[in-house]
Amino acid sequence: MLGIRSLLPRVPVPGLRLPRTPSFPHFLPRISNRPLSLSGATPPRRTAIVTGAARGIGKAIALRLARDGYDITVNDVASQEKALSDTVSEINSLAGNRRAHGHIADVSSPEAVQDLVKSSVDNLGPLTTMVANAGIAQVKPLLDLTPADFQRMFEVNVMGVHYCYQAAAKQLIEQGTAGKLIGAASIVAFKPFPLMGHYSASKWAVRGLSQVYAMELAQHKITVNAYAPGIVDTNMWELIDEGLGKKAGGGKEKGDMMRMYSDRLIALGRTSVPEDVAKLVGFLASEDADYITGQTMVVDGGIMFT
Ligand SMILES: NC(=O)c1ccc[n+]([C@@H]2O[C@H](COP(=O)([O-])OP(=O)(O)OC[C@H]3O[C@@H](n4cnc5c(N)ncnc54)[C@H](O)[C@@H]3O)[C@@H](O)[C@H]2O)c1
Repeated sequence: MLGIRSLLPRVPVPGLRLPRTPSFPHFLPRISNRPLSLSGATPPRRTAIVTGAARGIGKAIALRLARDGYDITVNDVASQEKALSDTVSEINSLAGNRRAHGHIADVSSPEAVQDLVKSSVDNLGPLTTMVANAGIAQVKPLLDLTPADFQRMFEVNVMGVHYCYQAAAKQLIEQGTAGKLIGAASIVAFKPFPLMGHYSASKWAVRGLSQVYAMELAQHKITVNAYAPGIVDTNMWELIDEGLGKKAGGGKEKGDMMRMYSDRLIALGRTSVPEDVAKLVGFLASEDADYITGQTMVVDGGIMFT
């Protein structure tokens, strides 16, 4: 049922004056997939940055947050450019007119992370949430570790999280808005894995760093939490599986070690998928987690009982 104005030509007709009406027929509901608040008002746009989002857990988090109503800047390193642009397309094709922006940056560079935050704000608007997810792993006994092995692990997994938290927090404080910082820890932040000493130490550091950030940023209404996945079937675990298989010897097939660890360790009896982790991050990024800060939450199907 459209009014007469919709049937009239859009060009101005000299001498014809119609009563003033709103440009959008006020009797039709506005169509939007954006969730309405109880008061009926449309909530403000929320934007998140997710690092290491070309694949694995980061990609699942980006898709989850987009479905939850966030516009998303996804980040990864240059070698993952094609996969990153696929993530952008997937988010853009979701219902609800979500907007995605891709930005290549190595999180171990503070300047690159500052550019990442700036480009997110320039493209999507004020920042709400930073998910410092990017990380690397390596299987190597402590006695064989070179200084370069140790240094790179900490540059990406610890300094990378610090640069992301720091740049995002400065942006939130400049905006004068509350926000959420969320980082990737691991169950090894509670009990280390042998042969992954420097990785375990790096995740232990993420847990400690998140606690101190939570203490220092509470005055700005910024919460800081970390997620601690267990054994998640991603490229990272393929690398761990291969490394542990070689160390175990005895002609281990691809996937054997992951199955063995999953069977032995996981109470719920299945290897985790990235979406298990994304569900927890979706909660931490939501207003339901407004009163939670300084926590590292385990999502491992029942390996670690904290
Ligand atoms: N897979 C698991 O079982 C598991 C368990 C506990 C914690 N985690 C943590 O979850 C996070 C995601 O792991 P995943 O399993 O999806 O790994 P993944 O290797 O599948 O994905 C990690 C992504 O991070 C990117 N990345 C690596 N270095 C980067 C850098 N310097 N700058 C920007 N991006 C970079 C990679 O290119 C990749 O796309 C990591 O921090 C990891 O340590 C994973």
